[in-house]
Amino acid sequence: MDAADLRVRTLGEGRIGSPLGGLVTRRGTTEHYVDETDRVLFDDTLALLAARDGEPPSFEPGGPRRQIYFDPSKIRVGIVTCGGLCPGLNDVIRGLVLELTSHYGVRRIVGFRNGYRGMVARHGHDVVELTPAGVDHINEHGGTILGTSRGNQDPAEIVDCLEQLGINILFVIGGDGSMRGAQRIAAEISSRDRRIAVVGVPKTIDNDIPFIGHSFGFQTAFGKATESIRAAHTEATAQPGGIGLVQLMGRHSGFIACYAALANNDADYVLIPEVPVDVEAFLPHLRRRVRERGHALVVVAEGAGQEYLTAVGTDASGNQRLGDFGVHLRRRILDDFAAAGEEANLKYIDPSYVIRSVPANPYDSVYCLRLAQAAVHAAMAGRTEMVVGTWRNRFVHVPIPVAVATRNQVDPDGDLWMSVLEATGQPVTFTADVAQQAA
Ligand code: F6P
Repeated sequence: MDAADLRVRTLGEGRIGSPLGGLVTRRGTTEHYVDETDRVLFDDTLALLAARDGEPPSFEPGGPRRQIYFDPSKIRVGIVTCGGLCPGLNDVIRGLVLELTSHYGVRRIVGFRNGYRGMVARHGHDVVELTPAGVDHINEHGGTILGTSRGNQDPAEIVDCLEQLGINILFVIGGDGSMRGAQRIAAEISSRDRRIAVVGVPKTIDNDIPFIGHSFGFQTAFGKATESIRAAHTEATAQPGGIGLVQLMGRHSGFIACYAALANNDADYVLIPEVPVDVEAFLPHLRRRVRERGHALVVVAEGAGQEYLTAVGTDASGNQRLGDFGVHLRRRILDDFAAAGEEANLKYIDPSYVIRSVPANPYDSVYCLRLAQAAVHAAMAGRTEMVVGTWRNRFVHVPIPVAVATRNQVDPDGDLWMSVLEATGQPVTFTADVAQQAA
């Protein structure tokens, strides 16, 4: 990462006094606020900073500007939600609408139905007029009032739609695939030399988009997942040879499994995609655990152990359709205990979509609202091809190419995984030695 990578594109200079300018006129950078002329450092240790040559990379801070680019009374804004569901989508929609209308005085906002499809004429979806009254109470419900879909559409057709509707700002609430789509839309807009801002609010319950701390809805989702872990633990402790096995979402990133397991602090094993598991070595370890303690609790992320399974094509977003590791592991555990003549009472729980279709919890609702506010401030100031993020607990602007270039994953050498190893007591790796000792 270098300083140039983090520069955010701007449609032009802000020449209009912001209605929110009064909030910031006398503010300077403090430990709680970053002035618009300041930057948020990328590196957060002295050693990292000292190792840099030249200008240290830094993010542009989020928040209201003194001057804005768009005249609120003249513009029309579009909002689209894309990809899989996530708690808080309706909070973000409502946050955008209220910030645009109440604070900036924007009068015309439309929502596109069913993701990018709703922006392509041949799919025949009407747009929805979004007003403060129309978004009342939507934050009390899971899902998205606009509907969603996976997959990108032809950026030229999308920009045709934006032009026909006279849209000046497009907010995309979506995951990494949708943000790549937003990047193509921004490129098409530039190639037509139009001044339309494209600003994203990153959405992923897997928490796999970088530079957003924890993504909105993540806390709600792992909180909901703790109910399954608690149930599996209760079942496991109630019977001889009790084994609770819980599979949670997390394709390439095991954050939900790690956080949900840490929240209950009862799991004996957490298996995630980032740390390959040798099932042959894991099984004897599990048997010994059950022999010694009478029960065991295993939490797996859906993307773990894919080396034991065959992927079955891709979904409309281009994501690999994963094999079902939870089901595979359940069979392997039962076969292994049976072959060893040891009793196993295994209860398998996969809450699946239950954890992502719920309304946001109050923490996530606050977070969604603040992300929406930051997105509106950025767009009104003419920023484009960017997503709002958080870095060191500050709201920042992240260029889309940077946001989609890497995936946020649990670092097997990082302190989160260390906490998991400490909490579970599982070995760092399941190797043949581990298996031998356990046998
Ligand atoms: O990407 C988020 C996610 O919830 C994954 O954890 C999960 O594998 C996937 O979406 C399922 O999405 P769908 O079945 O809606 O395509």
